[in-house]
Amino acid sequence: MIKDILEIAGIAGDIIRHGFGKNFQIEYKSSEKNLVTEIDKKSEETILDFITKKYPTHNILTEESGEHNKDSDYLWVIDPLDGTTNFTHGLPVFAVSIGVIKKGEIVAGVVYDVMSNIYYSSEIGSGSFANGSKINVSENNNISFGVLATGFPYNVEDNPYKAFERFESLTKKARAVRRLGSAAIDFCYVASGVFDGFWEVSLHPWDICAGKLIVEEAGGIVTDFTGNRIDIFTKQILASNKKIHQQMIDGLKV
Ligand code: IPD
Ligand code: CA
Ligand code: CA
Repeated sequence: MIKDILEIAGIAGDIIRHGFGKNFQIEYKSSEKNLVTEIDKKSEETILDFITKKYPTHNILTEESGEHNKDSDYLWVIDPLDGTTNFTHGLPVFAVSIGVIKKGEIVAGVVYDVMSNIYYSSEIGSGSFANGSKINVSENNNISFGVLATGFPYNVEDNPYKAFERFESLTKKARAVRRLGSAAIDFCYVASGVFDGFWEVSLHPWDICAGKLIVEEAGGIVTDFTGNRIDIFTKQILASNKKIHQQMIDGLKV
């Protein structure tokens, strides 16, 4: 199955790369902050077409078209373009994210960082890889030396889950905090040891699914802000190298 996920992520990535910097239609979703382009839709249609032909009995959940329920044990969870704001404004940081859940457990995931041409992939129990090479979380055990990442939801002006206070608190504790604009890539940078940790509120299942497995299989941990287990619907997400997890939990108490 992982071969198929890699293949379709690559095909979707080609569509996105081809559209980057060109003229494309843009629509607003919940507000003028929250965009969807014709490239998001093309990418999603292509992925859906592939899965429904090859795995016609599987359930699918996508960002742009929601649930396609077939009453299966398998669920594909898809963000056809993670980082739409970056894509729209010409910032080359965006990805395709595809995770597969079997009977409630994430069993495979691919995040394709389109412009860096890096395929992050994982199958449960087998580790995580970047273009076929094994990746691991960082060894750092002190948040003061850590570089963290975060992001903000489209209703950031409402300050959901005290997003601003938490940002201030962890920014004071860490060496630096980055905001890339692609949650899927944030997870993969934790998995590959670039970032020591990543947190965000109000993410969606398609932002989380593949990235969670990739972090865990690289030796990291993904919980809520109090250290409890999460599922892909959880609204407070904390991913780290494990070693600074408790320090991040403490920093998120505001
Ligand atoms: C967004 C990105 C961003 C995060 C937002 C997400 P989209 O996804 O992952 O980094 O901060 O919360 O919604 O809309 O570009 O697929
Ligand atoms: Ca997304
Ligand atoms: Ca998206």
